[in-house]
Amino acid sequence: MSQTHFGFQTVDEHEKARRVREVFDSVAPRYDLMNDLMSAGLHRWWKAYTVMVANPQPGQCVLDIAGGTGDLGLAMAPKVQPGGTVVHTDINEAMLRVGRDRLLDHGLVLPTVVCDAERLPFADGQFDLVTVAFGLRNMTHKELALGEMYRSLKVGGKLLVLEFSKVAPLLQKAYDWYSFHVLPRLGRWVANDEASYRYLAESIRMHPDQETVRNMMRAAGFAHVDVHNLTGGVVALHVGLKV
Ligand SMILES: C[S@@+](CC[C@H](N)C(=O)[O-])C[C@H]1O[C@@H](n2cnc3c(N)ncnc32)[C@H](O)[C@@H]1O
Repeated sequence: MSQTHFGFQTVDEHEKARRVREVFDSVAPRYDLMNDLMSAGLHRWWKAYTVMVANPQPGQCVLDIAGGTGDLGLAMAPKVQPGGTVVHTDINEAMLRVGRDRLLDHGLVLPTVVCDAERLPFADGQFDLVTVAFGLRNMTHKELALGEMYRSLKVGGKLLVLEFSKVAPLLQKAYDWYSFHVLPRLGRWVANDEASYRYLAESIRMHPDQETVRNMMRAAGFAHVDVHNLTGGVVALHVGLKV
């Protein structure tokens, strides 16, 4: 069995998927509140920016991978009407359930599929747009997942990967202090779960930087990849075009 990272720990590959599932089972009920608290609401802006760049059009088919509690689905579903659809997917049922309930509260019923991004149950060339927000970091075989995203896109389609990334050197010290001192405490006080938020900080540090993700997307087949650094590189949006 090959080994991989779970935060700063080295674990067997199958162990990583199990532990990631435990993290999201645990955080699902408080996920949205914690997102707002941890990012001081910035995650809403990062997602709005992603939707603006994705620019979904009426009639388009969109696949939201690792869609969790449904923020991107909620923003994109009205834009593909009439005639389009957003498929809301995640490997974790607890996260999808929270998302489905939220979408229902907004009067939206989206096709919802529990699936692993590394083995997508969709036909080749089915989607105009594929989005994945804060999900790639948690995947064990990122190259495999990016290959699946490429496969499921139509020629001319776009992949948008929003993910934590490498911050500008000037921000590094403050960002480290915040990540390793404030975040785990917030997790303990608000969600009674320090370990999951420690994993969050560690998994961000272990995730490849902007240039590496760009190269991984190129290797998956994307001919052109743009990188948008947001908030000093705290987050990066990678946009890949299938030609
Ligand atoms: C930090 S949440 C992001 C949720 C949502 N996209 C957002 O931005 O708020 C990460 C999500 O990735 C999902 N995930 C982790 N590994 C996955 C995989 N292999 N395939 C699909 N989803 C995965 C988790 O279950 C979790 O819901």
